Amino acid sequence: MVRGLLLAKIGVFLLCLIPLVIMGSAVVTGAAGPNPVEYLSHETGQWGLRLLLLTLAVSPLRRLTGWAWLIRFRRMLGLFAFFYVCCHFLVFAVFDHSLGLPSILEDIVKRPYILVGTLAFLLLIPLAITSTNSMMRRLGRRWKALHRFSYLIAALAVLHFFMLVKVDTREPLIYAGVLAALLLLRLRPGQWLARRTASRREVQKEA
Ligand code: HEM
Repeated sequence: MVRGLLLAKIGVFLLCLIPLVIMGSAVVTGAAGPNPVEYLSHETGQWGLRLLLLTLAVSPLRRLTGWAWLIRFRRMLGLFAFFYVCCHFLVFAVFDHSLGLPSILEDIVKRPYILVGTLAFLLLIPLAITSTNSMMRRLGRRWKALHRFSYLIAALAVLHFFMLVKVDTREPLIYAGVLAALLLLRLRPGQWLARRTASRREVQKEA
């Protein structure tokens, strides 16, 4: 069982590396097109967002399927989301601004969609830092509260995408739809209604 889990973890780790390998080979072979920086910026942003949403999908999927083991992959998926977002930021900072801090800051302030993306990125950092077991133990209930920010981060990332597309909003709309569905599953309207009805009955009984 332990060996099976380890193999599965290695498998998921390798799967998460595939986009990076594809990006690297596309740049080397010229398949990335005439503007490899733009290609890298798009791909790293897309994979950061996809993995962010996949991480958020783990808990509802576990609840719907009853597959408790799914939770064992959540941290790795979240850290890979962070990794691709870091690459995304690095592409911007290195290739667009040659690591010049004043120029990076000026761009962040000047373009609202970059400001929104930066906010999402900054909020993601404490989640990545506190993703270890020891941090989980140390923070206790506060850990859960902190990690609920992942929904806000995903919402900011989707907004960032919406703000930068000029004509065709289909792609960010799909991401927004997925996020809305995940939020609905998170709120569990069925359970909420059942709890509300139960508490109303209690009040009526006491009256
Ligand atoms: C959680 C954080 C972030 C996520 C998930 C994210 C995601 C995305 C996505 C999905 C795209 C669109 C890719 C496409 O057009 O196919 C994008 C584009 C872009 N993002 Fe981000 N982003 C994040 C943070 C940032 C940050 C911190 C910066 C820079 C400070 C940034 C700068 C850009 C730029 C320059 C583009 C390309 C715009 C263009 O089409 O020219 N992003 N991002």
